[in-house]
Amino acid sequence: MTDTTSNQMWGGRFAAGPDAIMEAINASIGFDQRMAAQDIAGSRAHAAMLAATGVITDSDAQAIREGLLTVLSEIEAGEFVFSTALEDIHMNVEARLKEIIGEPAGRLHTGRSRNDQVATDFKLWVRDQLDAAESGLLALIAALLSQAEAGADWVMPGFTHLQTAQPVTWGHHMMAYVEMFGRDLSRVRDARARMNESPLGAAALAGTSFPVDRDMTATALGFDRPAANSLDAVSDRDFALEFLSAASICAMHLSRFAEELVIWSSAQFRFVTLSDRFSTGSSIMPQKKNPDAAELIRAKVGRIYGANTALMMVMKGLPLAYSKDMQEDKEQVFDAADSWMLALAAMEGMVRDMTANRECLAAAAGSGFSTATDLADWLVRVLGLPFRDAHHVTGALVARAETRGCDLPDLTIEEMQETHAGITEDVYSVLGVENSVNSRTSYGGTAPAQVRAQVQRWKDMLG
Ligand code: ARG
Repeated sequence: MTDTTSNQMWGGRFAAGPDAIMEAINASIGFDQRMAAQDIAGSRAHAAMLAATGVITDSDAQAIREGLLTVLSEIEAGEFVFSTALEDIHMNVEARLKEIIGEPAGRLHTGRSRNDQVATDFKLWVRDQLDAAESGLLALIAALLSQAEAGADWVMPGFTHLQTAQPVTWGHHMMAYVEMFGRDLSRVRDARARMNESPLGAAALAGTSFPVDRDMTATALGFDRPAANSLDAVSDRDFALEFLSAASICAMHLSRFAEELVIWSSAQFRFVTLSDRFSTGSSIMPQKKNPDAAELIRAKVGRIYGANTALMMVMKGLPLAYSKDMQEDKEQVFDAADSWMLALAAMEGMVRDMTANRECLAAAAGSGFSTATDLADWLVRVLGLPFRDAHHVTGALVARAETRGCDLPDLTIEEMQETHAGITEDVYSVLGVENSVNSRTSYGGTAPAQVRAQVQRWKDMLG
C-alpha cells in the first residue's frame, strides 16, 4: 500500500509518499523507540539551550520542555501510538509534540539535525548500558570474592590441556576470574570515559550558523565536553563498537567460566553443585539437573560476537559523514546489551549460589600424579640434580606408579631408590597436595596466603 501524502517532516519537495516497501526498509521506529527517554532528554536540553542563547523564546522553550514530558509519560504508560510513516523515534516524538503544543514544536529542530540527534540519543543509551555493565561486573566480582575467601585453602586439581597438572586452591581458581572480570571492568570504564563527548550541535554535518552553546547541552546531558569535529561527531560509532568489543571479551570470559561450570557440575566431576534456583530438570529423565544457565551464557556469546562483527562491517565502507547504513547500528547493540546484562546477572546468581564439593575437589586434586612437579623440585633442591634430570627421574617414577596402579606417595622408598639411589624418606613430605599448594607462595601463586592477599587487594581496590 502506498501512502499518497508525503512525509510531514521532510516531504516539502515530494509529490508522493513513499512506496510501502520504501517505508518498511526505511523505518527504524520498530526498534529505536527504546531510545525514547534519551531522545526526549536530548531535546529538552536542546530547547533550554536555544532559549538561553536567544534563538527561541523562553515561553516556546517552556512549552516544548513541558510538552516533551507529556510525550514521555505517554510512552512510559504504553499509550503512545508509534507510526511507521514517521520513520523513527525522533520524528514520532516531534510529531506528537506538535499535536500537544502546536506551533512552538516546529522550533525545536532549529540548529540541529537528526544526525546529531541520533548520535546523541544512541550515546546516552550506550552510556547507560556501560553503567549497567559496570554494576553487573561489580556484583559478579563480589560473588567470586566470597567464593575465593571461603575456599582460599580448598585443594583442587589445576589443569592444562584439561589434563591434571598441579594442585591449586579453589580460591585461586575463583580469583583467576576476578582478574578477568576486573579487566572487563576497566575496559568498560575506559570506554565510558572516552565516549563521553556530546555530538549535539554538530547538526547535519557542518555545524550550524545559529549561536548554539554546545557546552551547555553537553553539561546538561552529563557529557564531559562537546565533540570537537562536527563531521566526526555525526559519523562516529566507535562508542558502540567499543561497547561491543568490551562485551565480546567479557562474554568470552563468561563463556569459559560457563564451560567449566558445565564440566564441574557433571556426575563425572562433581566439583560443584549448582543451586536449584539456577538449574533445570528434564521432562523425561527424573535424575537430571541441568546447568542450563551456564549453557545459555556460553551460547549467547555468539550473538554478542555477531553484533560486533556486523557493526564493524556496516561501518567499514562509509564515507563521511552520516549514511543511512548507520541506522543498522541499534538492533545489534540492543540485542548484545540484553544478552550481556542477562549473562552477567545469571553468572552472578550461579556463582553466589553454587556449592563447591570440597571432598570431590580434594580427592581429584591428589589423583593424576598431580604432585610430580613437587617431586622433581625436591630432587633439584635436596639432591642438587639439574631440573632436566629430575624431570626424567620423576617421569620414570610416574611410569612405575602407573604400572602398579597406585599414586606417587604409595611407592615404597625401595622402589624410589631403585629409580634414583639418592632419594630419602624426606621426599614424602612434598608429595601431599596440601604441601604442594602451601609451597607455591610466589607472588600470584596458588598458596592460600597468596590467595587471601589477593582477595584483600581486590576488596581494597573496590572499596
Ligand atoms: N533513524 C535514523 C538513524 O537511526 C536517524 C537519523 C536519520 N538521518 C537522516 N539524515 N536520515 O540513523
